[in-house]
Amino acid sequence: MNKRVILITGTPCTGKTTVAKQLTTRLDALYINLTELAKTHSLTIGEDKTRNTTIVDEEEMRKKTAKTIDGTEKTTVIVDGHYAAAVVPKRYVTYVFVLRRNPIELRKFMEKRGFSDAKLRENLASEILDVCLIEALQEQETERVCELDITGKIVDAVVNQIIAVLNQKKPCSVGNVDWLGMLEKEGLLDDYLTIT
Ligand SMILES: Nc1ncnc2c1ncn2[C@@H]1O[C@H](COP(=O)(O)OP(=O)(O)OP(=O)(O)O)[C@@H](O)[C@H]1O
Ligand SMILES: [Mg+2]
Repeated sequence: MNKRVILITGTPCTGKTTVAKQLTTRLDALYINLTELAKTHSLTIGEDKTRNTTIVDEEEMRKKTAKTIDGTEKTTVIVDGHYAAAVVPKRYVTYVFVLRRNPIELRKFMEKRGFSDAKLRENLASEILDVCLIEALQEQETERVCELDITGKIVDAVVNQIIAVLNQKKPCSVGNVDWLGMLEKEGLLDDYLTIT
């Protein structure tokens, strides 16, 4: 059976899980959260002490996600995680949605979540420098990568936008975000991007 596999990626705190869960309900899909999958199956290879995070075994994650996708009876699978593009094999992927959020808004979300200063700065830099988008473009077919600026949007609107792309009512495109240029123009670059 041909499955539709949709990846939801983006910098931590952009809103992946919130969007992916609602999309799962709307599409009656199987939901895979990569952080939870790694924890449940102990697919880690150590700790990154400076970052206070675990390091996942990408090869094992790739095997496990492929097995989970193959094993489900659901026709649609949603994979949620900032490294989803790197661990879901190309042959499975229908679309990769890269959620983008203006760093000014993203910083507020991260502060509300209680990110440490170091974590906040590192993840803000990732968003400003398009890290998840670049990874998606490196790992997956370009025409399957869709960049969505979800700044200021309610979850419903984001989910509707994704469904419109899936139904070919809206195009899938990249290159619509330039946080670096925006911050520079606003004179905010030094506040938001600190290279240490
Ligand atoms: N569209 C939205 N509007 C307002 N707040 C939102 C929206 N989407 C998510 N949030 C809030 O932003 C925070 C981060 O959302 P969420 O946990 O979905 O992000 P995430 O990308 O999955 O993060 P992580 O990478 O850490 O798993 C949460 O507190 C959530 O309630
Ligand atoms: Mg999440």
